[in-house]
Amino acid sequence: MATSENPDSYLDTRARFDDPVVAGDYVIKKNTLDNAKNRREMACIMAALTGLPEKSRVLDLPCGTGRLLLMLLDKGHTVVAADYARAMLDAAEAYHRNLLASDVEKSNRLKFQQEDILNTSFADDAFDAVICNRLFHHYPEAELRRQVLAELRRIAKNRIIVSFFSNFALSALQFHLGNRIRRITPNDRIPVWYREFERDITRSGLIVSEIYPVRYGISPQTYLKLVSD
Ligand SMILES: C[S@@+](CC[C@H](N)C(=O)[O-])C[C@H]1O[C@@H](n2cnc3c(N)ncnc32)[C@H](O)[C@@H]1O
Repeated sequence: MATSENPDSYLDTRARFDDPVVAGDYVIKKNTLDNAKNRREMACIMAALTGLPEKSRVLDLPCGTGRLLLMLLDKGHTVVAADYARAMLDAAEAYHRNLLASDVEKSNRLKFQQEDILNTSFADDAFDAVICNRLFHHYPEAELRRQVLAELRRIAKNRIIVSFFSNFALSALQFHLGNRIRRITPNDRIPVWYREFERDITRSGLIVSEIYPVRYGISPQTYLKLVSD
């Protein structure tokens, strides 16, 4: 439940993206840029979705500007794209309205909705799969991560795909060393050890069924497929 006692990381992450300039920039960087990083992330998510039957109900939360949506629609799923930031949702809707203008069938399988990940309006087990891409690295507090995982578990029938920043990566080492040298205590985009995040996962009644590193030992970005325990 979102309350005034929630940590700054949660409130800052919620507020930061609610800006048309940030959202416009995100469309360019994430929806339209065909670079190796974006392709690798997409490949991890597709691998984690393997075996999910066509016509499954899939939630992308937070969807940002919706870079996963076409891939999910192409696989025949019914998709809810949800995010807290109105600016991100508006940019996502405008982008896809244009892209799907001549594809009524796909448009009908896509719905946008404003939601707060700590306290969504969805029923228990509402989705066959829930994807939470690029949010957990904004949350350094284990308790916050656990609350989010518990909400995802509540609304997902079984499969949950999440990303997090792992300490087992060269760039994570650079991140920590750089901050140490500059005497900075970071409060965002902080890599954590896998075991630490796994503890949050098991405390939320979930287990890790597969691990998909984006670039093993190099990039901190790591995907996990979670199922109920
Ligand atoms: C780094 S972006 C990732 C977006 C998308 N998943 C992607 O990979 O492109 C983080 C997103 O989380 C959304 N967000 C932040 N706090 C949220 C909250 N409490 N509930 C729902 N969405 C939230 C932001 O608005 C933003 O769109």
